[in-house]
Amino acid sequence: MSDFVIVNEVGPRDGLQSQGKTLSIEERLLMIDALLDSGIRSIEAGSFVSPKAVPQMAGTGELFGLLPMTDAVDYSALVPNLRGYELALAAGVRSVAVVLSATETMNQRNINMSLEQATDVCAALMQRARQDGVQARAYVAVAFECPFEGLTPPPVVEYLSQRMFESGADKVIIADTIGAANPRSVRQVLERLDSAGMARQLSCHFHDTRGMALANVLAALEWGVREFDSSIGGLGGCPFSPGATGNLATEDLVLMLAGMGLRTGIEPLALVDVVKRVQALTGTPLGGHSYRWLERQAGKRQGVSHA
Ligand code: COA
Ligand code: ZN
Repeated sequence: MSDFVIVNEVGPRDGLQSQGKTLSIEERLLMIDALLDSGIRSIEAGSFVSPKAVPQMAGTGELFGLLPMTDAVDYSALVPNLRGYELALAAGVRSVAVVLSATETMNQRNINMSLEQATDVCAALMQRARQDGVQARAYVAVAFECPFEGLTPPPVVEYLSQRMFESGADKVIIADTIGAANPRSVRQVLERLDSAGMARQLSCHFHDTRGMALANVLAALEWGVREFDSSIGGLGGCPFSPGATGNLATEDLVLMLAGMGLRTGIEPLALVDVVKRVQALTGTPLGGHSYRWLERQAGKRQGVSHA
């Protein structure tokens, strides 16, 4: 099995969308520059959603026009509907992610669609992306628990994932939107998806609300998952899910993977500087479980190089 793991940084989207402070386009670009400096090469850079619903993401089209473009970086954008997809395409986006929540209420709250409508819209967008040669990811959100409807039945996650793959999704992202999963529930879902032949094309998106995100990553690694979303410094939340706090911190994910001998192309100590730069931009105290330790190690290294 591959020893390379894709770390998809979602701080510029999932992280920023729930911040009280709305960053300017220039500040969002500075954040992305900092991420690129650490070796991160997969970034969800923003979303094409209603600026009334998520003002923090206004101007994502302009942002895409200003990103340092290179084939070495996969910049993606979240799109909730056809309108968002077309705006993304017009802005030059080549990689999109749709968001399909596993419950009726979550779809209503998040994108004002029923579960059935959202499934059809997301399936149509996956087909469209495939025709346009655009890379397509599909989030299955609240895949473990919904803040409105409680525990999510794994067969629903299997059905929705299957629909997304059949419609042309390159990847399905199993998302624990409110950070309620544990290794057992992760295994239950992934076992089903593996039996249906899907585990290796999955990515997982964990929030660290209850401190279990890394344990959940380990459970997913054991099922062959080799792509994870994370957010620098643990920035994040979801404005439409009460109780959702920050994402799994990128530095925690990268440090654990490095320690396990898995490659990500990202140097864990380089993330200290990124956390500091993003903290200064957002004005939010940041840092995952390992941050203090990483900061000390980075300090020692600097001390050595200055000696
Ligand atoms: N991007 C920008 N504007 C959009 C849009 C998009 N993708 N889709 C719709 N709009 C605009 C419409 O033009 C309309 O504008 P107006 O009021 O100035 O005429 C307004 O939004 C309402 O359009 P409508 O089609 O009725 O949408 P809605 O009110 O049912 O809202 C969404 C649907 C999807 C646009 C909205 O719920 C949304 O943006 N949700 C984002 C959720 C999100 O980002 N969640 C976090 C990530 S999981
Ligand atoms: Zn999230």
